[in-house]
Amino acid sequence: MASETIVLLSSREIEKMRQAGRFAAELLDHLETMVKPGVSTLELNDEAERWTQSRGAKSGPLGYHGFPKSICTSVNEVVCHGIPNAKQILKEGDIINIDVTPILDGYYGDTSKTFFVGTPSPMAKKLVEVTQKCLDVGIAEVKPGAKIGDIGAAIQEYAEAQGFSVVRDFVGHGVSNIFHTAPQVPHYGTRGKGKRLRPGMVFTIEPMINEGTWEVEVLADQWTALTKDRKLSAQFEHTVAVTQDGVEILTLSRKVAKV
Ligand code: MF3
Ligand code: CO
Ligand code: CO
Repeated sequence: MASETIVLLSSREIEKMRQAGRFAAELLDHLETMVKPGVSTLELNDEAERWTQSRGAKSGPLGYHGFPKSICTSVNEVVCHGIPNAKQILKEGDIINIDVTPILDGYYGDTSKTFFVGTPSPMAKKLVEVTQKCLDVGIAEVKPGAKIGDIGAAIQEYAEAQGFSVVRDFVGHGVSNIFHTAPQVPHYGTRGKGKRLRPGMVFTIEPMINEGTWEVEVLADQWTALTKDRKLSAQFEHTVAVTQDGVEILTLSRKVAKV
């Protein structure tokens, strides 16, 4: 099937993805400065939309399959696709994943991080740190000749060794001038399985790691995915490109890239 064909991006297209990715990372850095007790998730959304529009870009999520807002804001037990809401006020001890996907010059930069609101509980702190490391160990597998399954295997081994579980129902994805395309990138799996990675492939890695069960449930709004046991969930996401000899993270901000 055509939709299973993994497109290899040209160096011109990868440069577009680099610009969109950096734009997304800088938007996320900007929103991070607003994360404090008392701020509503709608305020984060509205600032994201304003920041994006004022720089000549668009918000990928807005209207995507009917998604009503410009970013996803997923608090505590929400796994992903949380919908910003004026009545949802951040409070001390919450964790919040902010997932942004601006479209710059036709290309999508897709990245997310989980932030602490004030001081986290020891469990929240451990979960968020482990989830960040899950993204890192996944990215470390990416190089020409490796298999898609190597990424998920590395993430699953690390997450489960730390006593956490890996969400199965949502996966990473190819991304370019299309929001979600081939390949699918599971965050669990078996080394040596799946498609071979080749230079020019561009996809996200976005592990969702749960404190308790990996099972999720979707609310009647048809978007908000939450843990079945209502325990915590965290997520980090980068868009990456397979290069001739390894990997390039496309969603680093200038701030981070220089460190
Ligand atoms: N940014 C999300 C991802 O990582 C997708 C959000 S789709 C939306 O793939 F419709 F919920 F915005
Ligand atoms: Co995303
Ligand atoms: Co994504």
